Amino acid sequence: MSEVNQYVDYRREGDMAFLSMCHAPVNTLCYELRCAIDHYLSVAEQDDNVQVVVLRSNLVAFSAGADISEFGTEKSFAEPSLPALCDRIDQFPKWVIAEISTYALGGGLELALAADKRIATQGCKLGLPEVNLGILPGAGGTQRLPRLIASSTAAIMMCDGKPISAAQAAELGLIDVVLESAEHAEAALLQLWKACAGTKPVNMFEQAYTLEADEAAALNAYQEQQARRWYGLKSPFAIVDAVTQGMAMPLGEALALERTLFDDCAASPQARALQHAFFAEKEALKVPGIGRDDAHLAIQEVAIIGSGLMGCGIAINFLLAGIPTRLLDVNVEALEKARAYIQKTLESNRDKGRISAQKYEQALMALATACDYEDIANADLVIEAVFEDLAVKQSVFKELDRHCKPDAILASNTSTLDLNAIADVCARPENVIGLHFFSPANIMKLLEVVRTERTSAPVLASSLKLAKRINKVAVTVGVCYGFVGNRMVAPYSREAFRMILEGARPSQVDEALREFGMAMGPIEMADMAGIDVGCMAALANQQEWQGEESYQALQFALREQGRLGQKTSAGVYRYDDGKKQEDPEVLVLAKSIAESLGIEQRSLTKDEIIQRCVFSLANEGFRILEEGIAQRSGDIDVIYLNGYGFPRWRGGPMQYADELGLQTVLQGLEALQKNLGAYGERWFSVAPLLKTLAQTNRSAQSFSNV
Ligand code: CAA
Repeated sequence: MSEVNQYVDYRREGDMAFLSMCHAPVNTLCYELRCAIDHYLSVAEQDDNVQVVVLRSNLVAFSAGADISEFGTEKSFAEPSLPALCDRIDQFPKWVIAEISTYALGGGLELALAADKRIATQGCKLGLPEVNLGILPGAGGTQRLPRLIASSTAAIMMCDGKPISAAQAAELGLIDVVLESAEHAEAALLQLWKACAGTKPVNMFEQAYTLEADEAAALNAYQEQQARRWYGLKSPFAIVDAVTQGMAMPLGEALALERTLFDDCAASPQARALQHAFFAEKEALKVPGIGRDDAHLAIQEVAIIGSGLMGCGIAINFLLAGIPTRLLDVNVEALEKARAYIQKTLESNRDKGRISAQKYEQALMALATACDYEDIANADLVIEAVFEDLAVKQSVFKELDRHCKPDAILASNTSTLDLNAIADVCARPENVIGLHFFSPANIMKLLEVVRTERTSAPVLASSLKLAKRINKVAVTVGVCYGFVGNRMVAPYSREAFRMILEGARPSQVDEALREFGMAMGPIEMADMAGIDVGCMAALANQQEWQGEESYQALQFALREQGRLGQKTSAGVYRYDDGKKQEDPEVLVLAKSIAESLGIEQRSLTKDEIIQRCVFSLANEGFRILEEGIAQRSGDIDVIYLNGYGFPRWRGGPMQYADELGLQTVLQGLEALQKNLGAYGERWFSVAPLLKTLAQTNRSAQSFSNV
């Protein structure tokens, strides 16, 4: 009894029984909570005084749905299972009203869907986000929702996975009453109950329905639009099947179909990968020795040094979060250009409906510019985004040290440089941190938070808290060349360019990796970032590849010819009229470099291209992990998912390696090392940690520096 009390608070008032979930923090429907709900349903059923059960929450939110950490364990199947509980609510002989607060997601909404009536407070979010976890709503959602609202809308809502507001839900017929605020709940409930009392709940879910022609057409059109976004995914297709086929069946059969489709998705590698990504993003925010209380530095004003594209992109994040931001540049003309660029970007966001007109005005008002360091003396956080050169950055930090207030956070956006050497020039190195944004900084979700040997706990904790405020996915990393993301991209890009010398066409390399699921191929990515930028990054790390003449030899040769990528309308590809095309001249150039270096050209398979690029990525990841630059393999995955377009359904390079099996990866690397002669010998030596884990039958995830 005490056990069930911990999960549900039960109270009867007159003919109403209140069953309030209280499983902190978000009422995940774990085994114990399901048992408690089931138990109190029985109590209410047996109590002749009870005529209606109100299912609600004692916490802020109604429920975040099934407990994802239970998936695949015995507890998730143990009765009462979530589908069984929903069925019981659906069949319950007395009225059931769900009173939804803050959000009802996944299984939480499915519980509410099985009830007879639903009321929700304004501002509540309702959604079935299972698709983001590689599964489908498996507790009747795929069958009850399309029977309650327009079936194509229901399918689209489940395929998108995005929650809708209570007001939208009411319009669709998903919610019966929308409350202005939680204080009105009691009165609204009584009113709703008054209207129902004395009648019997009608079950509208039992029967089969015909999918109307216009509904089917809307769903088809939507599917066509989503083709690119659904690439590689299983569950959106399963959702469409569940809705279109299930609608035509009586509920019992339809639920059985849902179960079959759910089990198939749940057992897939992509479900494991997507669930790994969900937890990895939460874990990445946890840094040992850093607590919530450490995040006490208030960030009310931000300054950004450098008004180039990066500085502008960074500024937009803060402006959109309503934080006053001052852009500093010694060049007045550059500042004017930057202001115009920011305004144009914000305007375009407004015109596309991404932000309201009011937000646009507020963001513009929050922007200020300055040419003098004295003007940023009040900033709580300063982010340097100047040219990627150690001496230049050090001179900026000397100025910051001189002018900024004592507890200001001094951040650098460097993507490769030694942050310890930057902190060294300050009298307060403990205030120095790396905040590495990814270009375009106002769009890319990732923020690498680089901790030096001396960064203080409040500076780190406050930066992590800030990341959430500006809607970034933050990962804390240590100092080394390129940190985690760019250090790993070096071998990935090395292989991509080397294979062109070995005879692969650039488009063949890009297509293979796009087929693997990457948002972009490595060669087109290099053209977009700038061939000169690639060469600079290679030069900054020259000691690592000394003696390897083929290392980025094609990029250096292209730079020589002024082919700097998209910005000069020619890089590896040509961009006549903005359209990307393979350039035979580059194939000739690659051939002549290969000949001069004694590299024999041959044909390469898609599998070899993928293996060489992706295994190199993971191999470097294991080195990073072993050196303690990343805390966990999941952190590396989060970086690749949010900053480098790695397919989320593969979970990231480390999860991909785990899914393949580390022994397979080890054997693959060893074969490449053997088969590629002296080149292979040098570049495919296996990271010691990978070897150890593979030989002891362990996974990357099993290793942690925490
Ligand atoms: N299962 C397990 N743990 C969950 C969870 C879930 N469904 N939802 C949240 N949590 C955990 C988080 O991991 C976090 O744990 P730690 O404190 O240990 O890190 C804690 O609850 C609080 O979560 P957040 O930090 O994310 O809190 P937030 O307020 O920022 O966001 C949220 C809350 C909107 C609910 C967000 O956590 C979220 O989107 N959760 C996932 C919701 C979801 O996908 N539900 C569908 C589940 S699948 C299902 O229900 C399938 C079915 O039909 C069988």
